[in-house]
Amino acid sequence: MTQKFAVFISGNGSNLQAIIDSHTKGEIKAQLALVISSNQKAFGLKRAEKAGIKTLVFDPHNYTNRQSVDRDIVIELKNHKIDFIVLAGYMRLLTPYFIKNYPNKILNVHPSLLPSFKGANGIKDAFTYGVKQTGVTIHFVNEKLDNGPIILQDSVKINEEDTLETLAEKIHRVEHRLYPQAVALLAENRLKIKGRRVTILDKPLESEVKEVKKEKTSTPANLVRK
Ligand code: GRF
Repeated sequence: MTQKFAVFISGNGSNLQAIIDSHTKGEIKAQLALVISSNQKAFGLKRAEKAGIKTLVFDPHNYTNRQSVDRDIVIELKNHKIDFIVLAGYMRLLTPYFIKNYPNKILNVHPSLLPSFKGANGIKDAFTYGVKQTGVTIHFVNEKLDNGPIILQDSVKINEEDTLETLAEKIHRVEHRLYPQAVALLAENRLKIKGRRVTILDKPLESEVKEVKKEKTSTPANLVRK
């Protein structure tokens, strides 16, 4: 059964673009069914529309707390029978409620070699600290910030002539190569998690994908189609 996935964004969406391009080439064997944005002005929404992908936008200010946002999103993910989620520059912390609904089914990209330089400024923090190597981590999302089991990592050298800008460019290039690979592996059910360790399998794990059997609920009013 082909899985369906959603990409969550808040801004530029260059990782979303890398995933769309890889998907177009047939490298990701799952359906990119939905892009959700926490920001009406996110450039990533334009990328999604150009690719003909359905988009939904919400304004966090319309909600009183994080869980009510996540409840609405989960309703819509179930309506679309989404199997897994790809966070691509989504600038919001998911609540435990959300994560419990998608255990080991949420991916994130972080611009450092975790567990170093967690948080919102991974590139700058590594640069300022003076490390000679930093990198990119693709990991599963759990309830702690930038903490879930690591799927792929690659390093990036910081040379003397690098500026924060040149370093950011190098990091993004690695992200755009690594993230579609991880999405493809999850789509093919080739990631096995044991404790914190993730093994990449040659053949798919026996499918644990359960079809979501639920009556369709109407789209929450605060989630609008762009
Ligand atoms: C990336 O650097 C990613 O590592 C971080 O947010 C940035 C998103 O960039 N989580 P983009 O929106 O995909 O261009």
